[in-house]
Amino acid sequence: MTIPDIRLVPALPEHVDVWLAMREEPVSRRMMPLEPATRESLLKRILESTSDLSDPKATSFRWMVELEGRIIGTVAARELSRFHGRVEIGYMLSTAYHGRGIGTRAVTQVLERLFEWPFLHRVWLTTAADNLASQGLARKLGFTLEGVMREHYLIEGQRKDQQVWGLLRSQWEARARLSARVADAP
Ligand SMILES: CC(C)(COP(=O)(O)OP(=O)(O)OC[C@H]1O[C@@H](n2cnc3c(N)ncnc32)[C@H](O)[C@@H]1OP(=O)(O)O)[C@@H](O)C(=O)NCCC(=O)NCCS
Repeated sequence: MTIPDIRLVPALPEHVDVWLAMREEPVSRRMMPLEPATRESLLKRILESTSDLSDPKATSFRWMVELEGRIIGTVAARELSRFHGRVEIGYMLSTAYHGRGIGTRAVTQVLERLFEWPFLHRVWLTTAADNLASQGLARKLGFTLEGVMREHYLIEGQRKDQQVWGLLRSQWEARARLSARVADAP
């Protein structure tokens, strides 16, 4: 499978409507514990985040995923703790682009950037126990399933188990070494 050539761009106020529309898509609503949001609340979240990893005060980061000039998804890193060396990630693509490797590629690009922080030890994410695409992405990137919070949240009125997945720097670097060896193999 050839994975389309995507690019991460900083999340800007002009992206708010496409983000709002993605959140409203049936798959997003079925798979994510999305609390009600307004255009204004999403705009505020964009304005409160940055894509500048060198900003020493920032704790919330967001990128949009661009394919052929069109915004088709978003990846965020939030609740950064420089003290504990950890950050949580989240991601969402527009349904038309699911299942083509784009989510894995976009999150890989974000992880490559995040692990440039020398203090970062761990990246974690949560996903609903029935969100197989998100779990496939996490597993593919080397995350370990660390636990389940039972009936932790409501999705479309149904109580769902929430999984916690974690990726340690050592796992990420081992994966990068393996990919480099495969790329060098004759
Ligand atoms: C989760 C999401 C970002 C994954 O991105 P994607 O581009 O669809 O996923 P990829 O094509 O990169 O697939 C990653 C892995 O998961 C597997 N996978 C993808 N969709 C799957 C599905 N519906 N069921 C089972 N496995 C699936 C793929 O096979 C792949 O593994 P493989 O290469 O070993 O076969 C995307 O599906 C999405 O935006 N979903 C709606 C929002 C959401 O759920 N966000 C995450 C909240 S935690």
